[in-house]
Amino acid sequence: MTKMRSIKSIAIATALCASVAAPAQAAEDFKVGLILPFSGVYGGLGGEIARAFELGLEVFGGEVNGRKIVLVKEDTEGKPNTGLAKTKKLIHSDKVDVLVGPVSSGVLAAMRDTVHNSQTPFVIANAGHDGISGSKCSPWFVRTSFSNRQIVRPMGQWMYDQGHRNIYLMAPDYAAGHQMMGHFKAGFEAAGGKIIGEEYPPLQGTKDYAPYLAKVKAAKPDALFVFFAGGAAIQFVKSFGDFNIGKDIPLTGAGWLTSPLYIKKQGEGANNIIGSANYVTTIDNAANKQFHAAFKAKHDRGGSEFGVQGYDSARVIVEALQAVSGNTSDKAAFMEAIRNVSFDGPRGKLRFDPINGNIIQHIYVYKNVKKEGVIGPEVYDIIKDVKVPSDGCNS
Ligand code: BEZ
Repeated sequence: MTKMRSIKSIAIATALCASVAAPAQAAEDFKVGLILPFSGVYGGLGGEIARAFELGLEVFGGEVNGRKIVLVKEDTEGKPNTGLAKTKKLIHSDKVDVLVGPVSSGVLAAMRDTVHNSQTPFVIANAGHDGISGSKCSPWFVRTSFSNRQIVRPMGQWMYDQGHRNIYLMAPDYAAGHQMMGHFKAGFEAAGGKIIGEEYPPLQGTKDYAPYLAKVKAAKPDALFVFFAGGAAIQFVKSFGDFNIGKDIPLTGAGWLTSPLYIKKQGEGANNIIGSANYVTTIDNAANKQFHAAFKAKHDRGGSEFGVQGYDSARVIVEALQAVSGNTSDKAAFMEAIRNVSFDGPRGKLRFDPINGNIIQHIYVYKNVKKEGVIGPEVYDIIKDVKVPSDGCNS
């Protein structure tokens, strides 16, 4: 049975209940559960997604057909067990209409079955776990962010084409770190390159990357390719700068390494880094200009790649709610409305893959350069309309 057919059959089965429940529900608040890290190594990222989600509601509308959109926030702390417990609370006690989050792939993997079995519409606003686009896919998820594969797989061939032949890998020791390095390795080796070493420091609590960088220095690779984000990225890039190996070993990786959210805290180590990302602040379209202007007016700085995912998630939910005229008693029909949303957003045309619900988007390759004393990204290359395979996605 295809996914679309399975959603429709649930929709037909629940349609009878919908007609009974609709009048009473019309004026009820529409509850969004924001399940994000507000503390821990990814705490800054969760805060940014929440800020931009709230901004999205202000811009696109915080009320649909008399239903006020209200937020219930829960802190995953970036921990799978906490994320799962808070997800159950939001679904069963708070009875949210939709969930938005999380940041960590490990947390997403932990909550997946609970969300699927309870048939709760879910908009993934960051976590890139590949299984959700493949064998662990579910009709109850869409992803406005990326899959881990989507960001790094194209970089294997790209780095080879730049002349690199021997590369060292480093990432935190959890699902996203291993998936991203695995995809980079597959792409780079298929192109003809060789991975000459890999390091996986703990995600939480690594303060000093010098012992790992000493091994990289000794191996003399053509380049170092990494994935670090949030607090871990700040710490890693500072260590890399202090270790002073950038002139011999270029630092490259998944783009969250130097987000506009924290690049100012990273110092000279951020200069010359090459990264791949699903968003850069300089995308030249009207929706991106509107996003930045609105973010700056409220927060006195521009938005970030984490922010744009929160902002777009809010718009997806508002537009889907409008499409069902505010009536979400038929959950499957509401989920189908979410999957059908498409608009011109800050990243260009936003649309979801009809099979696995993952966003289809351009991947930007950037290089940080220093101009008038300020380090920031310049786009080098654009890999267009990157889709991820739905291998094993049959639900
Ligand atoms: C992840 O765990 O999927 C993730 C976390 C931070 C940035 C990018 C991906």
